[in-house]
Amino acid sequence: MYRTHTCGQLRIENVGQSVTLAGWVQKSRKLGGMTFIDLRDRYGITQLVIEADAEASLIETATSLGREYVIQVTGEVIERESKNSKMATGDIEIKVSKIVILNKSVTPPFTIEDESDGGEDIRAKYRYLDLRRGPLQRALALRHRLAQEIRTYLDGQGFMEIETPYLIKSTPEGARDFVVPSRMNPGQFYALPQSPQTFKQLLMVAGYDRYFQIVKCFRDEDLRADRQPEFTQIDCEMSFVEQEDVLNTFEGMMRQMFRNAVGVEIPDPLPRMRWYDAMDNYGSDKPDIRFGMTIHEITDKVQGFGFSVFDSVEYVGAIAVPGAASYTRKQLDELTEWVKRPQVGAKGLVYIKLNEDGTIKSSIDKFYTQEQLQAVAEAVEAKAGDLILALCGPKRKAQTMLGVLRIEMGNRLGLRDPKVFAPLWIVDFPLFEWDDETQRFYAMHHPFTAPKPEHLKWYYSDRKEDLERVCANAYDFVLNGTELGGGSIRIHEAAMQERMFEILGISKEDAEYKFGFIINAFKYGAPPHGGLAFGFDRVCALFGGQETIRDFIAFPKNNQGRDVMIDSPSEIDQIQLDELNLDLRPLPQK
Ligand code: AMO
Repeated sequence: MYRTHTCGQLRIENVGQSVTLAGWVQKSRKLGGMTFIDLRDRYGITQLVIEADAEASLIETATSLGREYVIQVTGEVIERESKNSKMATGDIEIKVSKIVILNKSVTPPFTIEDESDGGEDIRAKYRYLDLRRGPLQRALALRHRLAQEIRTYLDGQGFMEIETPYLIKSTPEGARDFVVPSRMNPGQFYALPQSPQTFKQLLMVAGYDRYFQIVKCFRDEDLRADRQPEFTQIDCEMSFVEQEDVLNTFEGMMRQMFRNAVGVEIPDPLPRMRWYDAMDNYGSDKPDIRFGMTIHEITDKVQGFGFSVFDSVEYVGAIAVPGAASYTRKQLDELTEWVKRPQVGAKGLVYIKLNEDGTIKSSIDKFYTQEQLQAVAEAVEAKAGDLILALCGPKRKAQTMLGVLRIEMGNRLGLRDPKVFAPLWIVDFPLFEWDDETQRFYAMHHPFTAPKPEHLKWYYSDRKEDLERVCANAYDFVLNGTELGGGSIRIHEAAMQERMFEILGISKEDAEYKFGFIINAFKYGAPPHGGLAFGFDRVCALFGGQETIRDFIAFPKNNQGRDVMIDSPSEIDQIQLDELNLDLRPLPQK
């Protein structure tokens, strides 16, 4: 036995005991002849003390220890003179009688403490050292706890965990695939799954009516704080269910996770919002409902007064930013530049200040009377001291820009407390999205999503307006402005599936080539079924009060999709290329 206790275990009750600990030297310092050492393992930190009157050889060994040396120490637990209430072990220290150096360490490239001096790149290169730090250890411990909660809950609900393959064919999620060449089938490629979508539906056909899997998914897409090229889903599917059953089951799972992993009670039942209301009021299909500042349409309040910018557009909307009438000219100019950035895409920003003294000052004073501006203020439910910000354009585009602006103002005003959790379901998504550029419909979720039964009359109509009205039996789980999960009730009838491909402009041959196996399977008695998938990395990050998922993944990729620790992706040698029957084209000149 290398140790009797861990470095996070000993308390005041243990005083007087003789113990042996093992761990890493976080740091050591000398104080009036005594040596103090912080000894760390994944359970915590314990302070060691080597007294000034200890044996000379012990003092010599203690003095020789460098950062990250691995040591074993034996000694007596004593009460500390100056206690540290911030540390779990802060009441005690170990009066060391023996030190064994188990392994030396070269000096680490950054300090391995809760606050590190290492930049992101160097910490990524030495991820195994970064993982020794407290914040990352706590993040991975939370991830582990949540995974256990998920398995316990779903097992209790009769779900079976079933693995599905990674070397497959393209899935319907719609991002780019990562592909793997096949040596045994020259010229042919596997695709890595963007999700196990088709397999879980096949499992329903096979009769495994409650399936789940905590599973890796792969998508070759541009990366952001909440996106990784390989990420983990809590993937689930159920048979003989309607939307209500799915929502209830997974609301229950989330409730248990919140309760047991972070001690938070979420509302029962969770709020639900129609997609249309989310877009109209929050300018987003993943609204952050921790704060108000909702969007109001003011088109009819501002058109017809000679302000051509507003007169010429489909939609004008506004938000009232509480208490921001004091914004200076400089701040408003900066905000105007901010909305003009390509990420937001507005052409300009109109403001109306409702001063505390009752006067109104706006950037459009030339065109509107005080009464007309007052009418806008009423429509936006603004009060004295508020700053009204208005944007215009095609309806959904303007709403989306206002949604981005709303989140930004929420951040600036500190209204987005990561310790406050406001989950909700978004329901009644449109089934299709029209794309002007390609002049065709796309599936808003994926092509296996079922239309609402009451909208079938429009589903089989050929008129574009009818198809645009069809709602899907689809739902997203949203938390604090992030989409944590989504799913749908699926189509399980061949004729309805064929109609879907027809609307999406996927030819019979194409459908057959891509999804022939599943279309065929559906001929053999597919049960009514539906499901969803949560992004597990996002769940962990938000539960941990962060927006970036990277720290909740042991070995993540950077923004270029690289693992800088193992240096991947990398070139492969000619022998491998030959075996795979692959020739590389010369790289394009940069
Ligand atoms: P969807 O594509 O919405 O649905 O994905 C489900 C959830 O996975 C998470 N997610 C990601 N997390 C990190 N990095 C990424 N690149 C990434 N992409 C997605 C999100 C998202 O809500 N098969 C369907 C589910 C179903 O219909 O049952 C699917 O994959 O949190």
